[in-house]
Amino acid sequence: MPIVLSTIAALRAFVSGRRVRGERVALVPTMGALHAGHVSLVEVARRHASATVVSIFVNPTQFAPTEDFSKYPRTFEGDIRKLSEVGVEAVYAPDVETMYPAGSATTVSLKGPATAGLEDVTRPFHFDGVATIVAKLFTQSQADVALFGEKDFQQLAVIRRMAADLDLPVEIVGAPTVREADGLAMSSRNVYLSQAERARAPALHRIMQETAAAIRAGAGVEDALSPSRQAITEAGFALDYLEVRGANDLGPPQPGSPRRMLVAATLAATRLIDNIPVE
Ligand code: PAF
Repeated sequence: MPIVLSTIAALRAFVSGRRVRGERVALVPTMGALHAGHVSLVEVARRHASATVVSIFVNPTQFAPTEDFSKYPRTFEGDIRKLSEVGVEAVYAPDVETMYPAGSATTVSLKGPATAGLEDVTRPFHFDGVATIVAKLFTQSQADVALFGEKDFQQLAVIRRMAADLDLPVEIVGAPTVREADGLAMSSRNVYLSQAERARAPALHRIMQETAAAIRAGAGVEDALSPSRQAITEAGFALDYLEVRGANDLGPPQPGSPRRMLVAATLAATRLIDNIPVE
């Protein structure tokens, strides 16, 4: 069973104890409700470090008042069981007062990939909350390496940019999206989908794959995106965006640089995001 740590002092003692033994320590930040995608982050962490800390904290500052903070799935006992099965050494599960003590007044302010006109349009304060909590987790843990899923591709770009800009001494590693057999990207929020919505949801990934194939075969990006946007709407989604961007900064794609296709769309009450490489 992993040791469960709830204070910054206990977390630091665990990490420094491992480091004096010459070990590298990985941090896998999560909000719990763990699924196979999180487990794969732990498996990737194993290749980069000999000890892994998984943090579980549902961060209130990255949810707008209209979003699902109160109903976000919380499955702590099951999470610990899953982490135990993959040999995680420690879980960091602080409470809100530890992360945001009374009087807390400092946040990370972002530009660049955080203002790319993707998630930030619908969720204008989301990345400030994400970056602030992740910066705190980095400085609290002083981990050598931190793992994030490519599923939240804009989040990964924001965190890479922040770590570079603030000279945070942590290596950021992105891990591939884990998918269900029918292509749906794994997400803690997939539990919100009804049976009928769940059957419909993989259309998003299928349409993205077809669109990327058309672009690879020589179609112009906008010529390929336009019918795909319509196809997503016809499949029953309310589309936020379907875009092709530069994979590093999420700006307009540059010739010869890697491109990423990103989508966000709502199916009934559940907002789904996904992305795939274009090349
Ligand atoms: O991706 C998530 O689960 C969260 O945004 C993160 C990185 C744990 C910060 O709360």
